Amino acid sequence: MADNPLDWIFARRSIRKFHSNPVEDEKINLMLQAAMAAPSASNTKPWHFIVVKDRQALNRLAEVHPYAKMCYEATLVIVVCADPAISEHYWPQDCSAATENILLAGTSLGLGTVWLGAHPRAEREEPVKQLFNVPDEMEVLSIVAAGYPAEKKASRTQFDAGRVHYEVW
Ligand SMILES: Cc1cc2nc3c(=O)[nH]c(=O)nc-3n(C[C@H](O)[C@H](O)[C@H](O)COP(=O)(O)O)c2cc1C
Repeated sequence: MADNPLDWIFARRSIRKFHSNPVEDEKINLMLQAAMAAPSASNTKPWHFIVVKDRQALNRLAEVHPYAKMCYEATLVIVVCADPAISEHYWPQDCSAATENILLAGTSLGLGTVWLGAHPRAEREEPVKQLFNVPDEMEVLSIVAAGYPAEKKASRTQFDAGRVHYEVW
């Protein structure tokens, strides 16, 4: 699909319609490797990941999160969790970097993905923690829904020169 790695960045779009064929374990493993290749403050790597393929659990996730209806179709979800005890200040940034790496890896592997927000909204985090037995002291930063895409979206950069300042604001 793309020769230049930058093209994967521009090709990554939020995909919310999926075919029913499952994502291969090899691809899931590559996405997790990409996640854990992300930078983290002092290389503390505060992340944990829950891989969910069970249809009933995916459906339940679609019910408990108000903007996760695509999970009725998604064949894979990766819940990105954090242990704040490992990185008290920077775990949201660390786990966001890991989340973006999952999205980009998925795109490069021919998958569709979408980032579903959880932290810092307790009403989004709590039901997800309950559903997947996440320990109280952990956080849910994000949820990635994924699968083989049943919709196409154009690559784009959204570059806005008005948001760029040279030397000073
Ligand atoms: C922190 C965060 C939370 C998001 N939460 C949701 C969500 O709950 N449901 C959803 O469908 N998309 C969610 N998105 C995806 C955005 O809607 C999407 O990235 C944005 O509209 C830009 O579209 P693109 O991803 O195709 O570039 C979220 C994205 C981020 C970064």
